[in-house]
Amino acid sequence: MSTQRVLIQGIGGIGGVMAAAMIHAGHNPVLVTGNANITRAIEQNGIHARMPGGRTLSPKAEVYTGLDQVPRSAPFDAAYMIMKAAVVVDSARRSIPLLREDGYVVTFQNGIVEDAVAEAIGGGRVVSGIIGWGGTMHGPGVYEKTSPGETHIGELDGGISERVKSLGRAIESSAPVVISNNIRGALWSKLAINCTITTIGALTGETLGQMMGDKNTRLLMMKTYTEVIDTAEASGIRLERIAADPRMLYLPHDAGWFEFFKKDLIGRVIGFKYRKVKSSMLQGLERGRPTEIDFLNGYVVAQAAKAGVAVPYNTALVRMIKEIESGKRKMLHENLRELALAA
Ligand SMILES: NC(=O)c1ccc[n+]([C@@H]2O[C@H](COP(=O)([O-])OP(=O)(O)OC[C@H]3O[C@@H](n4cnc5c(N)ncnc54)[C@H](OP(=O)(O)O)[C@@H]3O)[C@@H](O)[C@H]2O)c1
Repeated sequence: MSTQRVLIQGIGGIGGVMAAAMIHAGHNPVLVTGNANITRAIEQNGIHARMPGGRTLSPKAEVYTGLDQVPRSAPFDAAYMIMKAAVVVDSARRSIPLLREDGYVVTFQNGIVEDAVAEAIGGGRVVSGIIGWGGTMHGPGVYEKTSPGETHIGELDGGISERVKSLGRAIESSAPVVISNNIRGALWSKLAINCTITTIGALTGETLGQMMGDKNTRLLMMKTYTEVIDTAEASGIRLERIAADPRMLYLPHDAGWFEFFKKDLIGRVIGFKYRKVKSSMLQGLERGRPTEIDFLNGYVVAQAAKAGVAVPYNTALVRMIKEIESGKRKMLHENLRELALAA
């Protein structure tokens, strides 16, 4: 077992499940919430996580509200960032004084925050993580692991370091770990899925089954997905298979009817299999939470500008999601008409 001294920041859906599994497995992470209600619940009742198969983990935990409350007794080896993307750079910067000289930050967000965090604290201090499973918080201190999947981790520059191996040992109780020597390729593969399924799910307010059951929606999803893959490849990224083939929804610009038919069929199958899935961005917007759009489609638009790739669908999606965030637009299927005009 790893003897790492770890700080976990963000005890929401993912952080709560990961913390409970780690403590249950014998690790002693110190938890930092952004919310006194969660801290109080965990202090009083421990942290409860229902795992697949119905097993509930209920360990006690050391928990504080905000980094300022964490005792400066001994420096930490690692700080895990498990909050939404918008606050990660600030949290990473504020974590540095609590870390050992060779201590590092692990980012676990949807979207690509790694470049911004590396710019703030130095690339050598950042390890990247991708959560391929689901978790939710039912109430303060009460969590559920909602879907299986792997956690991919890796060094931004590639290679398999000792610190990544010990990170893997520390978190393997929460989900199977894949140590990647091409984490950037894995980040972009996940980005393509999120920019398409998560973002268009929020734009329409529909389940994946509703979206993928409609031919026009499937076409717009393939076009959005294709722009992300084109941007990745123009930026020199070698796409990595994570849960599925990264080209599963890619529609080549010269695609003939058979290629289109094949990809369209894949879309219909995915839509049917995951028909009840509701986008996490959609669920967040329903609760009045800001989205991670700047680190999803917004990141693609920024990288595409550098690489000289046209991304009209992703550009329109950023604008329309921001309009939904500010209350100027509703989440409706009809938004797709405007998206279709983007190109
Ligand atoms: N949930 C999933 O199934 C899933 C799957 C894959 C990837 N992800 C990604 O994982 C990341 C975390 O998602 P999540 O669903 O766990 O989010 P979440 O349920 O919203 O939890 C994040 C928690 O972090 C807290 N927080 C915010 N700022 C903080 C700070 N500076 N220090 C400590 N805590 C802070 C928030 O407190 P407040 O509530 O007070 O703001 C919230 O309780 C996101 O990037 C998400 O996209 C999630």
